[in-house]
Amino acid sequence: MTAGTDSVVGPGPRTATGRLVEDTVLGLRIGAMRAGGMALALRGDRVARLLHRPWRLDPYPVYAELRAAQLAGGPVRSRTGLTAVATHASVEAVLRDRQLGVRLSDGASRLGDGDGPSLMEPVDLSLLTLDPPDHTRLRRLAQPAFAPRRLAHYREVAERVTAELLDGALARGGPFDLVAELASPLPIKVISALLDVPDVDAGRFARWGLALGSSLDGVRSPAHVRELTRATAGMRALFGELLEQRRVHPGEDVISTLAAAVDGGTATADEVLAMAQLLLVAGFETTTNLIGNAVQAMHRAPDEWSALVADPGLAAAAVEETLRYDPPVQLTARFAHSDVEVDGRPLRRDSGVLVLLASANRDPAVHPDPDRFDLHREQAAAHLAFSGGVHYCLGAPLARLEGEVALRLLAERAPRLRPAGAPVPRVATVLRGPLHLPVTA
Ligand code: HEM
Repeated sequence: MTAGTDSVVGPGPRTATGRLVEDTVLGLRIGAMRAGGMALALRGDRVARLLHRPWRLDPYPVYAELRAAQLAGGPVRSRTGLTAVATHASVEAVLRDRQLGVRLSDGASRLGDGDGPSLMEPVDLSLLTLDPPDHTRLRRLAQPAFAPRRLAHYREVAERVTAELLDGALARGGPFDLVAELASPLPIKVISALLDVPDVDAGRFARWGLALGSSLDGVRSPAHVRELTRATAGMRALFGELLEQRRVHPGEDVISTLAAAVDGGTATADEVLAMAQLLLVAGFETTTNLIGNAVQAMHRAPDEWSALVADPGLAAAAVEETLRYDPPVQLTARFAHSDVEVDGRPLRRDSGVLVLLASANRDPAVHPDPDRFDLHREQAAAHLAFSGGVHYCLGAPLARLEGEVALRLLAERAPRLRPAGAPVPRVATVLRGPLHLPVTA
């Protein structure tokens, strides 16, 4: 979940022929990359399988194979060039190891190879693309947004918005899509409150969030590149205006803090824009998936749903168990800053490690009977769904709060909630969760 600075967005003026040539070259590169990955997957490369259907629809058996292989002979080295860490101990160790970072050893973005647009990570996502000391400086700027006093305000927002959304969906009667009616609009409203984005812009904001979130798996097509370009340009225009406004009339929101940082010389305008993009991407679909995955897990384990209905105070436990059992962010990546050893396997400087957070969460060495969803699980808090080390999710308290509010109010107001059709899964590798989840109350 890292991005490069050699962004595909923000291109200069181009002719129609120039664009056609660029599109063709880009289309060929994407096609070649996909075909190469699929060929490896078909030949049994487990890491490549995580990127392709049918395996990525249910990656948990692949994770189990990777864990077993790692126990037998060290972390699996894939023909994709990546080495995968899959056990809880090794995932945690890699995340905490300061010899591994999100950039290459010389501080360059790993995507800065100069051979055209970045295909894997096309949008600059601020903190997620930076190692210390830049990372430390910018993380400090965003931190006040998650202070306890601000969280109390977001709780009020989350409770009011969830109640309104559920009232609307339940009052209409009949089946509804839990993602469209609750899991998706709730985090967008909360991030809008965090950034103090005016209501009139909320719809556009949500569309940009979807577009930028889709960039986490890399670029799908030239049309996808154009969609990302439009989203980034739209965000740049809106945040440019908001920064100017907050300079004159500062509030308590993150944009006011960021505007002061630009004025005080501790951040550049580009860094601030990337931060706003990050907050939108990091806080939107992740939380949507948390709510969707929780409800889906309890549809498959109806006794656990009954337990939650009987005691809605278990909502926080349901959030933790969902984060362990089916985490919204499945994996991330790191690069060796020197020659290192990872769980006994030597890694050359600048080689990449695929860090399988979701696999760590199903490691039986830490979570007995890991494939069972259990609201009363004791070790559930030791999951790695929010990563670890310096990039530990800044929004974790907010995500927990939103998930807890959503599940508690659902259990209280819709105790008979049950499936009303087949869920439609998101086709992605990094983010996991239903795109549509038909339910009836
Ligand atoms: C269930 C919901 C969420 C999950 C599963 C999640 C997961 C993650 C993970 C795994 C990372 C680290 C990636 C890495 O190590 O490479 C991360 C980082 C981050 N998350 Fe979250 N996140 C969630 C919600 C949120 C929310 C609601 C916000 C804020 C609005 C947020 C803001 C951030 C930020 C700013 C970072 C970057 C931290 C850094 O690099 O220092 N996240 N998140």
